[in-house]
Amino acid sequence: MSRLLVTGGAGFIGSNFVHHVVETSDDHVTVLDALTYAGNRASLADLPEDRVTFVHGDITDAALVDELFADVDAVVHYAAESHNDNSLHDPRPFLDTNIIGTYTLLEAARKHDRRFHHISTDEVYGDLELDDPERFTESTPYNPSSPYSSTKAGSDLLVRAWVRSFGVQATISNCSNNYGPYQHVEKFIPRQITNVIRGIRPKLYGAGENVRDWIHADDHSSAVSTILAKGEIGETYLIGADGEKNNKQVVELILQLMGQPVDAYDHVTDRAGHDLRYAIDSTRLRTELGWTPRFSDFAAGLADTIDWYRSHEDWWAPSKDGVEAFYASKGQ
Ligand SMILES: NC(=O)c1ccc[n+]([C@@H]2O[C@H](COP(=O)([O-])OP(=O)(O)OC[C@H]3O[C@@H](n4cnc5c(N)ncnc54)[C@H](O)[C@@H]3O)[C@@H](O)[C@H]2O)c1
Repeated sequence: MSRLLVTGGAGFIGSNFVHHVVETSDDHVTVLDALTYAGNRASLADLPEDRVTFVHGDITDAALVDELFADVDAVVHYAAESHNDNSLHDPRPFLDTNIIGTYTLLEAARKHDRRFHHISTDEVYGDLELDDPERFTESTPYNPSSPYSSTKAGSDLLVRAWVRSFGVQATISNCSNNYGPYQHVEKFIPRQITNVIRGIRPKLYGAGENVRDWIHADDHSSAVSTILAKGEIGETYLIGADGEKNNKQVVELILQLMGQPVDAYDHVTDRAGHDLRYAIDSTRLRTELGWTPRFSDFAAGLADTIDWYRSHEDWWAPSKDGVEAFYASKGQ
């Protein structure tokens, strides 16, 4: 049995990971989460109290972080400001949490000599042309576009430096776009699903040609568990499930799966600097560590996700009106 500290464990992917750990191991999890607008205690509500301890606090609080690191074997770091659109509007919280927060955790990992896994995104690599045959690999140069992705890139580089300079036992993973339960309704897929449930027409940025490489959050969690168990210290692993789809295809599939005409959506103003295409080559993780995704059929994973939002309106309804008012103020 290990004792894990999971930062950002009340957020979308972090809470999916905590559920995954409880279901697949006998590890104990301490969640450290500041409960920003993106954190939700209800995402952990059905988990047993003897397996999961919740600590409400900030990853930039060095004294609290130091105390928590003393009591665990390993740390998985999900906490972040994570929404590109918000980073264009107000970048400062992204610097505080993604850069200073990661620095604070690394200093504690160094002091307590703890195994540290850093969660990051494929957005650090910038974007690919729509017709480019290439996909991102572990050796693709960093080229982030937005305040969000540049702070994630900065946090990755801090981790690499703490490994090299101070011998911190860290690994990094960069994952493609996640979908699944417990994702905030500000994000593309849950926004469109909950729009349909509410009788609002889905909104598509621009022409909808931008391509994302979708992976179910549960597959992201199993990949992170694999890296924690078998990953080589100091190494980076890309996580992806070969799920490339453009945004127009995703909206049309949501409408089809929800029994609506596939053209019942509106085009809205595109995101500034919108990355064209992300695509992950996860060969290294699959061949060296033996990981494979469970959800290889995107439509089946999306249908599960639609069912989850249909049956958890109490979870997402409190945020929905505010999110739509925010997008409406920007013509989106
Ligand atoms: N969503 C994706 O598709 C995706 C893809 C690849 C990587 N990632 C990475 O995965 C991680 C989690 O993403 P997500 O989509 O679950 O994000 P999220 O916004 O849903 O959750 C972030 C969580 O971190 C918490 N948090 C924020 N600032 C904090 C602070 N200063 N101290 C403590 N807790 C704080 C929030 O309360 C929230 O619970 C991020 O590092 C993100 O970069 C996300």
